[in-house]
Amino acid sequence: MSKEHCFLVVLCVTCASYLVVGVDLGDFCTSFDDCTGDFSICNQDADNFDRCRCITDYVPTSNTSCGPVRNELRETCEISDQCTVRNSTCNGASKICTCNVGFVPNGNTSCVPVVNELEKTCEITEQCNVAMSICRGTPKICTCNTGFVPNGIATCVPVRNELRETCEISYQCTVRNSTCNGTSKICTCNIGFVPNGNTSCVPVVNELEKSCEITEQCNVTMSICSGTPKICTCRTGFVPNGIATCVPVRNELRETCEISDQCTVRNSICNGASKICTCNIGFVPNGNTSCVPAKGSLNDDCILNEQCTVPNAECREATCVCKAGFISHGNDCKQRKFVSDSCDLSLQCPDNSVCLAERNVCVCLRDFVSHSGRQRCLKRVGFNEPCEETSQCTENSMCVGAVNSTRCTCDDKYIGIGLTCWPKRALNETCMLSRQCVLSGEKQDGVHCLDTTCQCQTPFRANIADNKCNSGSGQHAIAIFSILLSIIVSRSL
Ligand SMILES: *[C@@H]1O[C@H](CO)[C@@H](O)[C@H](O)[C@H]1NC(C)=O
Ligand SMILES: *[C@@H]1O[C@H](CO)[C@@H](O)[C@H](O)[C@H]1NC(C)=O
Ligand SMILES: *[C@@H]1O[C@H](CO)[C@@H](O)[C@H](O)[C@H]1NC(C)=O
Ligand SMILES: *[C@@H]1O[C@H](CO)[C@@H](O)[C@H](O)[C@H]1NC(C)=O
Ligand SMILES: *[C@@H]1O[C@H](CO)[C@@H](O)[C@H](O)[C@H]1NC(C)=O
Ligand SMILES: *[C@@H]1O[C@H](CO)[C@@H](O)[C@H](O)[C@H]1NC(C)=O
Ligand SMILES: *[C@@H]1O[C@H](CO)[C@@H](O)[C@H](O)[C@H]1NC(C)=O
Ligand SMILES: *[C@@H]1O[C@H](CO)[C@@H](O)[C@H](O)[C@H]1NC(C)=O
Ligand SMILES: *[C@@H]1O[C@H](CO)[C@@H](O)[C@H](O)[C@H]1NC(C)=O
Ligand SMILES: *[C@@H]1O[C@H](CO)[C@@H](O)[C@H](O)[C@H]1NC(C)=O
Repeated sequence: MSKEHCFLVVLCVTCASYLVVGVDLGDFCTSFDDCTGDFSICNQDADNFDRCRCITDYVPTSNTSCGPVRNELRETCEISDQCTVRNSTCNGASKICTCNVGFVPNGNTSCVPVVNELEKTCEITEQCNVAMSICRGTPKICTCNTGFVPNGIATCVPVRNELRETCEISYQCTVRNSTCNGTSKICTCNIGFVPNGNTSCVPVVNELEKSCEITEQCNVTMSICSGTPKICTCRTGFVPNGIATCVPVRNELRETCEISDQCTVRNSICNGASKICTCNIGFVPNGNTSCVPAKGSLNDDCILNEQCTVPNAECREATCVCKAGFISHGNDCKQRKFVSDSCDLSLQCPDNSVCLAERNVCVCLRDFVSHSGRQRCLKRVGFNEPCEETSQCTENSMCVGAVNSTRCTCDDKYIGIGLTCWPKRALNETCMLSRQCVLSGEKQDGVHCLDTTCQCQTPFRANIADNKCNSGSGQHAIAIFSILLSIIVSRSL
């Protein structure tokens, strides 16, 4: 086609559109020129009438013009009829084929409905109108994305892999045996569990000797988790009392206790009645921190009086002996008794006394008498013998004299002869021994006991009234004098 020819065709078509009033689409036409709208032609249809109509793959966009059919989303359009994708329309503003409200594009050829609930079927994630949800599974459904879990039918909440993180529902809390605390809204270990760090809940342990990981588990007062393997056990300074109690160690006697394991002093136990730490049977306390063996017997070694368990025994010079006032009899300490006290054994009685069998009292042996204090028996002694008390002395005598040299001394009216005090006798009184006959005054010559009567010896003459024996006659005296004189004279010659 030449340039000129071409110009003419364009001019004619242009002129026709302005000059000729076009025929609407669907109306009768007689020639090509009648159908003036874009992409329309005059064409014979089934009833053999010529009408203006759109060319193939075009649809009417106005009374006279046609626009292309749009089989894909996002293509330009003028009216929705062009948009063939199901549930799409021509967006009035952008003039492109767009999925209707409530639908989202799935590629360029499909609009799929928005899904507002979890667990509902879907094809693509864009459908799933729940935050943090995606379309997956077989069959495909809207479901919470990895790291999220459903809270109801229309919410996804984040998974909480640690304790103490905020939460809304327990399902979020993934730590085993934890839940979302309804009040604090944080992931918390269930009742009966305690947190071990932020990622584990471990069960509360209510008994000693049971395995554990951390001390917080051990729900026995004063217990800790320790050992290999780890178990709940009483902390230092405490010992188990049964399976669920720890009681304090007692390092001293006389402290309160519940069980013997508490009492650490060697050979001590918890006394069941008094509930205090006490030395075991066979031991006695030495201060508050030691128990020493109790010695059953006298003569055993000892440190303390308490060790000597025989009643009334004590520790003296490192040996168990009877206390003062007691005397050993076998392994017993018998009380020492005084004269006249009740007794069981003669051993108890003072020296030189015996326990009188039928009366059970201490009595002095024959030839002994009780000391005034009753603590001793004194030997009976005779005249002029050393004594302590008058009771010792023979009849009619008293114990007198300087300190430490007292002796039995006859009473005034008596005279000691041998060990006995005899009554003094005057002339003409009865007598048994001559020495009983005591004259008045210094001079004692010339008296004797004769025929059981005190008499003056010959040639003495008795003066009974004065109790004297006088020299006989004057001749007697002169004779004696002359004899003596002759002896003196003869000697001097
Ligand atoms: C299109 O046709 C309708 C009905 O025949 C008519 O009412 C309308 O005015 C026409 N529009 C134009 C722009 O001619
Ligand atoms: C979506 O398209 C189908 C088929 O064209 C139709 O039956 C249905 O009503 C449409 N749905 C909506 C919500 O427009
Ligand atoms: C969808 O349409 C857009 C715009 O027309 C185009 O860029 C894209 O490549 C198309 N995608 C497919 C999968 O055909
Ligand atoms: C603790 O969690 C485990 C595992 O989830 C479970 O089998 C067990 O029953 C739970 N124990 C309690 C007391 O909740
Ligand atoms: C839940 O939290 C509240 C407040 O912090 C607390 O008092 C309560 O003991 C907690 N409940 C459980 C079961 O942990
Ligand atoms: C811990 O011990 C106390 C006292 O025995 C008891 O009352 C409580 O129930 C225990 N706690 C748990 C979680 O078992
Ligand atoms: C546990 O979590 C709390 C709160 O999230 C945090 O302060 C703490 O450091 C965490 N501890 C550990 C051992 O991770
Ligand atoms: C022994 O213990 C008792 C009771 O606890 C106390 O009164 C006493 O003073 C203690 N004695 C010593 C030597 O510690
Ligand atoms: C008497 O004897 C005792 C014991 O032998 C002695 O201690 C005391 O000093 C003596 N008294 C006199 C005065 O000699
Ligand atoms: C001497 O004793 C005798 C007998 O008792 C008595 O008869 C006599 O009178 C006494 N003589 C004197 C002088 O008293």
